[in-house]
Amino acid sequence: MAGPRNRKQARLFLSRFFPGLVSVCISTQLCQPVTAVAENWLPPGSSTEMIANKPAELFRPSTRFDDQLLYGRLLFRSPQILGGKAVRIGLSCNSCHTNGHVNSGFYIQGLSDRPGRVDVTHRFWQAGFDDGVDNPIDIPSLRGVSNTAPYGAVNIFPDLPAFTRHVISDEFAGPPPSQEQVEGLIAYMNALDFSNLQGERKPVQTRKDMTYLPLLEAPLANRDTKKIDELVDLIRADYGQRVSRKSEATTIQIVRILKELQKKAAANDFAAALHLYRELVPVQ
Ligand code: HEC
Repeated sequence: MAGPRNRKQARLFLSRFFPGLVSVCISTQLCQPVTAVAENWLPPGSSTEMIANKPAELFRPSTRFDDQLLYGRLLFRSPQILGGKAVRIGLSCNSCHTNGHVNSGFYIQGLSDRPGRVDVTHRFWQAGFDDGVDNPIDIPSLRGVSNTAPYGAVNIFPDLPAFTRHVISDEFAGPPPSQEQVEGLIAYMNALDFSNLQGERKPVQTRKDMTYLPLLEAPLANRDTKKIDELVDLIRADYGQRVSRKSEATTIQIVRILKELQKKAAANDFAAALHLYRELVPVQ
């Protein structure tokens, strides 16, 4: 039999024939135990993103799409807010609460008993917060959520900020969110309306051309490098998730300009950064 030709093959070769050997470090690449690596992947048959028939995203009639709400919407769709594991499997709030409603097809083998249900207190998410019970529950809709306190089915919290911090830090082991991040997420959730499309109070639906780029305007004016850094990373990741064949050329161009803008801001060259921003968002 031919010997292993590369590191991956070497690891497979070792684990197959010498199971006890996998934790022995031959090079740094081989140090990770095989199970830990495997845990970063979703089991076959899992489905975490809705592709077709997404529910409409409904906002209260008076909704103003200001920076705070846009920022909250961006975070709601960003795996980063939920921490490393979520980033590896591409999971955001929006994966489960799609467009603020329910991903009725959400399914992770071992954590869901049927589509639309999931166990959020399982050690898969965070070893330290397993309640030890196999308890998948319905993913709730967040439409009209500002009126439905208290929050949570397993652990109960009196208000949305407290529940949101709990979801991020306890359930998904994400880094503690900043006050500004929590406020953004709350602004987004508070704006979500019931699905009352037939009624008198017509909810506002998401505009197709919704863009997060204007969020950069204020931090550029304030020369806030840290904020620019955070936003560029989030916006670039968002484009990465949404990229489709049709939009690829333009998207890649935007993503490239954003990276350049981030570099200029980091080097304190705000004139150049602003110039790049104007390429993306011309003055109206
Ligand atoms: C893996 C799927 C999943 C993800 C990801 C997720 N949730 Fe949930 N969410 C649930 C489930 C299941 C429940 C019901 C169980 C509970 O209340 O703990 C829930 C409950 C909630 C509730 C309470 C609703 C109510 O009426 O009691 C809010 C608010 C909420 N989630 C917001 C969020 C936010 C914000 C994020 C991202 C930071 C998020 N969720 C990420 C599955 C998810």
